Amino acid sequence: MMTWFSDWWRGGVPVVEQAGARDAARLAQLHGASFHRGWGEGEFEAMLTERNTLVDRLRLGRKVIGFAVSRMAADEAEILSVAIDTSQRGRGLSRNLLMTHLGRLAGRGVRTIFLEVEENNQPARRLYEWAGFGVVGRRERYYQQSGGEQLNALLMRRDLS
Ligand SMILES: CC(C)(COP(=O)(O)OP(=O)(O)OC[C@H]1O[C@@H](n2cnc3c(N)ncnc32)[C@H](O)[C@@H]1OP(=O)(O)O)[C@@H](O)C(=O)NCCC(=O)NCCS
Repeated sequence: MMTWFSDWWRGGVPVVEQAGARDAARLAQLHGASFHRGWGEGEFEAMLTERNTLVDRLRLGRKVIGFAVSRMAADEAEILSVAIDTSQRGRGLSRNLLMTHLGRLAGRGVRTIFLEVEENNQPARRLYEWAGFGVVGRRERYYQQSGGEQLNALLMRRDLS
């Protein structure tokens, strides 16, 4: 299929760009649909204005369909959250989002990036491994599920050169 046609079919060309204060409500909605403990609009508003937090959004046409959030301290950063709209998953859209986000962190002087991922979260683990992250630690029973089940967390790291 021709590129322009598939782009049109999917609702436009995916664009990664810095999120702004007006994205808070939509980002909270996306976060709430992806995580057991969702972050509220107020939490996003705060992160979107803090100097040490970097928030990128993934936009398809006029719709914001994903985001990546990191917190920076000196030359290190932690990826706090990455999410894609449930209806847009499985198309590889998170790769462009994450790579652009890493590039922007590098542009802010970040040299080392950490993140925590639930051990059974295969899509996220595949994404981070593809992006060059390696497992550097494991925390047993780190996440508490609503049903009481406790899940392990993997600590991953990537150095930017
Ligand atoms: C993690 C997430 C951002 C990935 O976004 P995405 O655009 O759907 O990712 P992709 O389409 O590139 O798929 C990522 C990989 O997972 C694989 N995958 C997708 N669904 C899967 C499943 N149910 N089981 C195993 N692997 C799966 C894909 O095949 C791909 O691997 P590959 O590159 O080796 O083919 C998305 O699933 C999401 O928003 N999840 C909820 C929030 C979350 O868990 N975030 C990460 C923790 S902060």
